[in-house]
Formats: sequence, C-alpha cells, structure tokens
Amino acid sequence: MNIGILISGRGSNMAAIIDAVMGGELPDCEVVVVISDKSDAAGLAKARERGVETLVIERRGRTREEHDAEIVAALKERGVELVCLAGYMRLLSPSFVQAFPNKIINIHPSLLPAFPGLDAQKQAFDAGVEITGCTVHYVDELLDHGPVILQRQVRRLPGDTVETLSARILEQEHTLYIEALRILVSTYSDGAASA
Ligand code: GAR
Repeated sequence: MNIGILISGRGSNMAAIIDAVMGGELPDCEVVVVISDKSDAAGLAKARERGVETLVIERRGRTREEHDAEIVAALKERGVELVCLAGYMRLLSPSFVQAFPNKIINIHPSLLPAFPGLDAQKQAFDAGVEITGCTVHYVDELLDHGPVILQRQVRRLPGDTVETLSARILEQEHTLYIEALRILVSTYSDGAASA
C-alpha cells in the first residue's frame, strides 16, 4: 500500500506514520511522498531526514480545484493508494475526494463531531468538557467530517492548561493514527485475499 501524506505545518503525525512504516509496524506499506501546501512547513525537513520524497505545492492564487488537481496528479504519478492528511489545513474539493474514494483519512484533535475546525483542543477546553480526545476519520468535502474510523478519549486533569491538554491529546494522536492505519491496511489485504 503506497501512502501519500499531506501536511501544512509541524508534521509530528506524519513523522509518527513514517517511523511506524520504517519500524515494520505497518507491513507492506510505504510512504512514497509527503506534500505540503506551505514551503516553510517544519514537517518537510522531518520527512527528508527520514528519506521520504517531499513536494511543496502552494495554492499561489489558483482556484482550489486547480491546486487540488496538481496535488492529485502528483499523488497518482507516484502510485499513491491511500492519502493521509496530517495537519493539512485545507478543505479538499469534491474532485480530490472522488479521485481517491474512501482512501483519504484525517486526524483531528477532538471527539468529532464535537469541536471541528481550528483550535479544537481550545474549543473543548473553553467548553469545560471533562473528556475530549482525538479522531481518525474518512475525509469528505466538509470540514473535519466523514465516517469515524477510531476515536480515543483524553481526560482533562485538574490544573490542565490548553497546552498540557493539547500535548496529551497529541501523544494519543500519534498512536491512534497508526492503529487506524493497521486496521485499514489489514482490511484491504483481507479484501484482496478474498477477491
Ligand atoms: C494535529 O493536532 C492534528 O490533529 C490537527 O493539526 C495538528 C497537526 O500537528 N489537525 C486538525 O486540526 C485538522 N482539522 P502535526 O503537524 O504535528 O501532525
């Protein structure tokens, strides 16, 4: 299974996926490309350090469809079969979603459908909920929306700040993403075996 990862920033989830693949936790998977829509994304260096090809494809005043078409072409040229969004802060156009049916997944730092959008951890913190968490879900054209694959709860502790709570959620994100990928990849290989 050839994986392509889309990022916009730090890339810690991206690094966790690459490290899991390289460490043999996701057999028969390869991360073939990391694409960022931002040239200054810190995750680009992390991908290069790990020997993964990186591309910067910026929007540069083009329409969302034109930008997405270039990304889809780059993914298809490299034989990408599964697209992982990892802190990719853009909505995908319908044609992008249709180019990889049920093969685009995302991670979000809340228990969706609660707190979609930016600063989900702060939204949960400000709402005063005692339990929040993270979600891996299939991607559709809507913001942080689509069928849920896996979720994990993270409890707010006494004395937590948004920063300490976010850090504990992020730690769980890194392992939840790998667990979701393991389930998906084994589902695909079961399907291939029975086809
Ligand atoms: C992560 O917390 C991820 O869940 C979130 O952005 C952060 C990216 O960090 N994504 C969203 O909020 C998507 N709506 P990372 O670049 O270190 O993986």
